[in-house]
This record gives sequence, structure tokens and C-alpha cells, in this order.
Amino acid sequence: MAAVVTAGELFRSAVDRFRKARLVFGHGMQDARDEAAYLVFHCLGLPPGDLAEHRARRVTPVQHRKFERLVERRVRERIPAAYLTHEAWLGDYSFYVDKRVIVPRSFIAELLRDGLSIWLKRPARTLLDLCTGSGCLAVLAAHAFPRAMIDASDISRGALAVARRNLARYDLQHRVRPVRSDLYAGLRGRCYDLILSNPPYVTSASMRSLPREYRHEPQLALSGGSDGLDAVRRILREAAMHLNPGGLLVCEIGHNRRALERAFPQLAFVWLETSAGADHVFLIEREALTRTDRPPSTSSTARRAR
Ligand SMILES: C[S@@+](CC[C@H](N)C(=O)[O-])C[C@H]1O[C@@H](n2cnc3c(N)ncnc32)[C@H](O)[C@@H]1O
Repeated sequence: MAAVVTAGELFRSAVDRFRKARLVFGHGMQDARDEAAYLVFHCLGLPPGDLAEHRARRVTPVQHRKFERLVERRVRERIPAAYLTHEAWLGDYSFYVDKRVIVPRSFIAELLRDGLSIWLKRPARTLLDLCTGSGCLAVLAAHAFPRAMIDASDISRGALAVARRNLARYDLQHRVRPVRSDLYAGLRGRCYDLILSNPPYVTSASMRSLPREYRHEPQLALSGGSDGLDAVRRILREAAMHLNPGGLLVCEIGHNRRALERAFPQLAFVWLETSAGADHVFLIEREALTRTDRPPSTSSTARRAR
């Protein structure tokens, strides 16, 4: 008779293998324990939770084989777990993913939890998720702003197909419109209370040394040119034309704060605090995009204290 295997044993064996293989965990997972626990829950057919409550749970032979296959591919092919399971979590929401989109992990998700209420005079009614990928931020925004109409745009047909699938999962087709567009090119004449964007922002130097895990993601979704700001520059230049009075642009830029402030010394960026620190996501008001005098940049903590 085959020995009984528990969830705790699967977890420990996977952590051990992941550590020995020196995997990289940047796709919504903190470390080997995080990713091993996620795979255990996935194979048990449970949403991610507290593994301590399930350690003694018996694993069926079918679940065991599935787990072994996933761990093997994770180690040998360095494929992020989300692509193996076709599932990624961002906050409390799960998304279908495949290699047409990056694995959701935007820090903007954290800011949507309170609907950016410190910054918006009233809840946004019209919203653009520029560079939507899997549609993850559009879905989170639709829940944060239940009365908003949302455009979710991307240049990639493949990404939009994935986004459509996620919008259907959350029954949001009536409020979120997928749009194929090279940044604003397909959005002429449209204005929004809030534009969210997590554009490609990886510098050319970083692209050349990406760990294998990241090479499974679409290059189009990551590559931001020599200083990482190719898309961000274009987003900033035309943002004012697509924002309503009092409207806000919220944009994630990775590690490129210094380069951005050098490129746009006249703009007063507000740097929003997330778990990545206060230099990964900026906010700028429509009026500040068109002002020529420059008040100094602020961080959200500084501004909240005023
Ligand atoms: C970093 S991913 C972000 C996806 C998603 N918003 C998220 O947070 O997971 C950037 C996305 O921008 C899209 N993209 C790249 N260049 C673009 C362009 N010129 N116009 C519109 N979308 C573009 C890519 O296809 C990709 O889906």
C-alpha cells in the first residue's frame, strides 16, 4: 500500500527543492515557502490560506502526482508558478494568466484598496487602465469604484484576449471596455477622472540580465528602453489631454524615480507610499501637468502630514 502523504510533507519537499535550485521569486511570491504553499493549496483545490491549518491533511495520489509535475517544471524550466497553474492572485482577486501577459503584481493594487480617497475629490466615474495586460487593475478599479465606466487598453491582442476572459470572470463586461490601442492613439477625444498605468519600465541594461523566470513574460510588457522611460514619457506628454479637470494620473515606474525627475524637472510628482517604498508609483494632477512653475515633488507621507 502506498504511504500516506500529507500537505505538510509536500510543502517541505518543495521548499527544499526550490532553495537548492536557487529559484527567483518575483511573480507575486515572496520566497520558496510562499510559492510552495501556493502550489500545495492549488493542488488541493483550495484558495491560498494558512498552511498551518492544513499540514496534516492527506493528499490523494492524483493530487500528489499533479504537485510533483508542477514542482518539476518550476525547477527545470524556471516557469513562474502562475503560468503553470494559469492562475495569479492580486489582493483578494484571482486572475487567469498565460504567457500573453505578465503575472500581476502591480503596487497600484495596494493603492486601490481605499479607492485613492485621499487624492480624489470624489470617487472616479470615468477611468482608464492604460497598458491593462491581464485586466487585473481594471478589475480591482471596477470594485473600488462601483459606479465607474472603465476603458482597459493595451497594444497586444493576446493581452486583451486574456483581459476579456478576466472581465467575464467578474461579470464586468458592461462596465469595462477592452480597447486595442498604442497608448492613447485609439482613445482620441476620451477623457477620464483617473488614469492608472503600469507600463513597461525595465531598462535595457536590466532586460539583458533578467533572471530566467522573467524571460517567460512578454518582452513587450517589460521593456522600457534605455532608461526605462520610453512609455512613461509618452504617457506623461499626452495625459493632460485625456484627464478631466481635477483628474489624476497614477503610474508605476519601478526603480526609475531619479531618471524621471531628471527628465521632467518641471513636473511636481507626488510619490505614493506602497510596500515597495515611496518611489515606485507617482501621482500627478491634470493641472500640475500643464503648470510651468514647479512646486517641489512630495511623498504621500509628507503630504498626508500637512
Ligand atoms: C507591465 S505590463 C502591465 C500589465 C497589467 N496592467 C499589470 O499590472 O499586470 C505592461 C503592458 O503594457 C502593454 N504595452 C506595451 N507597450 C504598449 C503600448 N505602446 N501601448 C499600449 N500598451 C502597451 C503590454 O502589452 C503589457 O500588457
